Amino acid sequence: MSIRIVETQPFQDQRPGTSGLRKKVAVFMKENYLENFVQSIFDSVAAPAGSVLVLGGDGRYYNLEAIRVILAMASGNGFSRVIVGRGGILSTPAASNLIRKRGASGGIILSASHNPGGEHGDFGIKYNSGNGGPAPEKLTEAIFEKSLAISEYRIFEGFDFDPEKLGESRIGKMTVEVIDPVSDYAELMASLFDFDSIRSLLNDGFDIRFDAMHAVTGPYAKEMFEKRLGAKPGSVLNFVPLPDFGGGHPDPNLTYARDLVKIMYGEDAPDFGAASDGDGDRNMILGRHFFVTPSDSLAVLAANAKLVPGYREGLLGVARSMPTSGAVDRVAKALNIPFFETPTGWKFFGNLMDAGRVTLCGEESFGTGSNHVREKDGLWAVLFWLNLIAVKRMSVEEILYEHWGQFGRNFYSRHDYEDLPLEAAKEVMETVRNRMTDLPGKCLGKYRVRLCDDFSYHDPIDGSTSRGQGFRILFEDGSRIIFRLSGTGTQGATLRIYLESFEPDPSRHGLDAQEALRELISIAGEISDIERKTGREKPTVIT
Ligand code: G1P
Ligand code: ZN
Repeated sequence: MSIRIVETQPFQDQRPGTSGLRKKVAVFMKENYLENFVQSIFDSVAAPAGSVLVLGGDGRYYNLEAIRVILAMASGNGFSRVIVGRGGILSTPAASNLIRKRGASGGIILSASHNPGGEHGDFGIKYNSGNGGPAPEKLTEAIFEKSLAISEYRIFEGFDFDPEKLGESRIGKMTVEVIDPVSDYAELMASLFDFDSIRSLLNDGFDIRFDAMHAVTGPYAKEMFEKRLGAKPGSVLNFVPLPDFGGGHPDPNLTYARDLVKIMYGEDAPDFGAASDGDGDRNMILGRHFFVTPSDSLAVLAANAKLVPGYREGLLGVARSMPTSGAVDRVAKALNIPFFETPTGWKFFGNLMDAGRVTLCGEESFGTGSNHVREKDGLWAVLFWLNLIAVKRMSVEEILYEHWGQFGRNFYSRHDYEDLPLEAAKEVMETVRNRMTDLPGKCLGKYRVRLCDDFSYHDPIDGSTSRGQGFRILFEDGSRIIFRLSGTGTQGATLRIYLESFEPDPSRHGLDAQEALRELISIAGEISDIERKTGREKPTVIT
């Protein structure tokens, strides 16, 4: 029972992406692979001796093994206390909350978010800083640099640890505190939302389904929706977290949340449906036979925030990622509050929230959140919607039509081409880059191009500039086409095309989005020559 210093060789591929380091499970299981990365984190953050660390994951394959290794290394590196969720479970927003609430120096979250799990699936690890949010780029780069130069790591050897037993134990000089992963988070939610009024809505027969997709939100949703809010038993589906997520792809969208979509579009569909992803930070909201785009969801929450106790005083400001539709911009304008357009990824919102500039933020990729934590938060969004419905006593569909009637409708869709050969994806992007130089001023069908650029963002808080965030083709009537390469895939390249048009005329608000966007879709195909360059006739996923 002692700290051992183990010699090791660097790996070359440990550069964290926007959401940490994600690789196939087999890669993480290579000798010293996880250890090297964890030591690189500890060396980079250089937490003072005696610091507290939060630790947990989404329960995917290799979660508990990794938890044991990280505990042993935290002890070897002088942490005084690690707070770990029972069974190694913590959703990403719950971890963010704990870091803040317990004054931890940071946290390690084990997840590859919505990527499939299991022995042949993905594993991931990310570090969140003391504000509860994802590590800033400076830090992730430092971690990568350390990983390239690493020669040894420190680990405590020989200890017992029972992840199921609540309470404190020791590993060397370090205290391990196993906590209930749900209770602090549930308490936070109860402080933001009117649980009594949601309870009475459900009591009156409002029928909901929440699909946890066999991932981390199961225990959280069971506790809140069924136990505390009185939803009828069976309202929460697939609530047992499984190492392989039941073989599914835990991504709450119309393609992957198939079971829920079938129920919500079936006969006798419930009034409200929602789902969350592997680590609990994403959300999808459905009404009866009705889908709410994440961009619209953000706009609706912003427009109605004052109806909810946690936001009764109004919003400091709102932010959205660049590819997210401009629906929320219109709300910000009407409310006369500041609005920010940031690059893709949650970390840009963190600076704005820390500086007290925004309260709500969101991304088109099913991520919505507020300054209650520093991550997007799936169950928070679901509770927000239920609270709104409980106050307004309108259906999801009615709320959307009311919203569009007031602000106009931003038709929106994202077309993903997954697992492309890297070369083909790059070629498509180069084609677009070249075309962009002579597009401004030209008419493409009924759309006249106003401006094209490669989006860059100047952070008003830390003064940094992020370039190369996606090609924007902006049209004079406010329509947009955006081309961007994903930064989170683990297989091949994923190319995303984002399409948006604005429709003020209420008589056209009922159109199907793909129909309304048909011309823009074909313009995007022409500009990028995507079909010829990739051999793909259509996208892999349309949302
Ligand atoms: C995707 C989403 C992005 C989100 C990220 C992490 O990144 O598009 O909005 O922040 O996952 O959940 P991408 O693969 O597009 O780089
Ligand atoms: Zn996620």
